[in-house]
Amino acid sequence: MLEIGKDEAKAAARVVESGLLFRYGDPKTGHPNECANFERELARKIGVEHTLLVTSGTGALVCALAGMGIGPGDEVIVPAYTFIATPLAPLTLGALPVIADIDESLTLDPKDVEAKISRRTKAIIPVHMVGLPANMNAIKRIARRHQVKVLEDAAQAFGGKYRGRWLGTVGDVGVYSFNYYKNITAGEGGAVVTDDDEMFMRALMHHDGGLSFWPHGKEFSLPVVAGWNYRASEIQGAILRVQLRKIERLLRRTRSQKRKILAAVDKHPKLRAIKHHDLEGDCSTVVGLRFRDEAEARGFMDRLKKEGQDSWTPIDSGRHVYSNWEAIMGRRGSYHRALDAFKRPENRASKARYEPDMCPRTIDILSRTVFLNVHPRTTAEETKKRIRALEKAAESAC
Ligand SMILES: Cc1ncc(COP(=O)(O)O)c(C=O)c1O
Repeated sequence: MLEIGKDEAKAAARVVESGLLFRYGDPKTGHPNECANFERELARKIGVEHTLLVTSGTGALVCALAGMGIGPGDEVIVPAYTFIATPLAPLTLGALPVIADIDESLTLDPKDVEAKISRRTKAIIPVHMVGLPANMNAIKRIARRHQVKVLEDAAQAFGGKYRGRWLGTVGDVGVYSFNYYKNITAGEGGAVVTDDDEMFMRALMHHDGGLSFWPHGKEFSLPVVAGWNYRASEIQGAILRVQLRKIERLLRRTRSQKRKILAAVDKHPKLRAIKHHDLEGDCSTVVGLRFRDEAEARGFMDRLKKEGQDSWTPIDSGRHVYSNWEAIMGRRGSYHRALDAFKRPENRASKARYEPDMCPRTIDILSRTVFLNVHPRTTAEETKKRIRALEKAAESAC
């Protein structure tokens, strides 16, 4: 979470005082319709045709995959470093997540995507982890060649860009999360964004099975199919409208601090930054350093700590490392056998593997990477101090 305060509190209070908390409220009351306004404002800002606010990033992933018509017999390629929601989303629909390695950029390795593509693959999900843009051009080229869709998981990267385009709008469809830990937040929330009319219509129907009954529900050009409920509340919409106006200012600050830190890293003979696919577009909420091995990385973290600076290594981030995804490693997709993608007859022919040691490269990269968090409130003075600490920690290496 980057910044939240009085303006968001006022926006939420306005909705509560109006008593109109439901996004498809009574049109006679002059309902302010915060969710719909957020969707319009988001679409305008990121330059995309369709946007849908939903209850979570996980919900957004499921709706996007439903919009693509993904289901049993299909495979979806996901990176080995992401929040567990990314592989859970295809499982929810009966499809199999196929886990591919990351590369030195900490995002999906196009070479391993190519190796894991099968005739069952229907989509690839690059994830812009900790605000770092994935190698979208390479992934899109592979997707085009194999005629599969690209779903960008930009849950951790709202506000980031790739070659000038907002992350989430570079693939066929994109999703964001607005949970408490994200660049903009309403505590919980998510969004689906796309230019594809049909995909959007199906995602929209999946997000609210009762949509056609509400006076503000959209008119459908496709037959109505059974949906679920990922409907956002007006309080989420109101808070996110305020957050949306702040994002560029907040990321200007993180980018300026990260640029200074990286300039010092580049000059130092013992420090090496991770690989970036678009440094300008990077959200810059972390600075990543790479080391030869885990021992070197942990030694550096200890020395940095002695210099008064916190850092962390992604191998310790539990839920984001594939080997810790208990339900997936244990091939338990549902309580009911018929709903369990791992047991569905259509999926039996899949060659996908689920073993904690199957992506050693990912484990190696994660365990020798060190991250430092950057916050919009980090001052220039603090950045200077941090640079001095980095240099000292590097110099005291044996
Ligand atoms: C990469 C990634 N994908 C998806 C999600 C799911 O978002 P949510 O928690 O809003 O369901 C998250 C949330 O942490 C995430 O980090």
